[in-house]
Amino acid sequence: MKKLAVFVSGSGSNLQAIIDQIKIGEIPATISCVISNKKDAYALERARKNGIQAIYISRRDFPSSLEYEKYLVNFLKSQKIDYIVLAGFLYIFSEYFVEEFRNKIINIHPSLLPAFGGKGMYGINVHKSVLEYGMKVTGATVHFVDVVPDGGPIILQKAIYVREDDTPETLQKRVLEEIEWKIYPLAIKLLCEDKIEVVGRKVIIKDKEILKKVGIEI
Ligand code: GAR
Repeated sequence: MKKLAVFVSGSGSNLQAIIDQIKIGEIPATISCVISNKKDAYALERARKNGIQAIYISRRDFPSSLEYEKYLVNFLKSQKIDYIVLAGFLYIFSEYFVEEFRNKIINIHPSLLPAFGGKGMYGINVHKSVLEYGMKVTGATVHFVDVVPDGGPIILQKAIYVREDDTPETLQKRVLEEIEWKIYPLAIKLLCEDKIEVVGRKVIIKDKEILKKVGIEI
């Protein structure tokens, strides 16, 4: 059993999808804590409802980003966390934090990276930009976190078509429901079952068969 810490800032629908898959025994892990930098994040409520330790802790409670991250590193190490799962967490970790947990931090981003990633690209902003550009396809990406925002090695990606009558909201909904809630729990399952190998920028998935469950054939 692996131990996860999930970082959130918003509604936590991805957190919910992960909790649901853990509950039915699909992911061999427990969530030790859910950490939010937004006090009113509904994700904290979801954690409490599921008996998971819910912690609100903000960068603003510390004199510097380094102090904040040092506190988090000590806490996560004291809890013996195996993987850090970012699920809509609006904060960019520094090199210090990322190096402490190399290839142990994963994130989901609502576009086909490296398109529509980086600073300022989060949540609905991503879908607005996708529509403004006139994209015909979009999707979501699960990746390891490294020092470049949204730039770490890619674990899974899946695409859908953009419709002519899509709004940022309809696109966000389809990307969440049809892609994110499926590929994120699956990536975490693969990680917790030690079926992911990182070779430089390349991520090798050792169980290709299971990817078919979410419509990925490689
Ligand atoms: C998700 O769409 C996630 O991909 C995105 O925030 C949303 C969180 O929703 N993350 C980013 O944009 C990161 N750059 P949720 O709180 O319902 O899981």
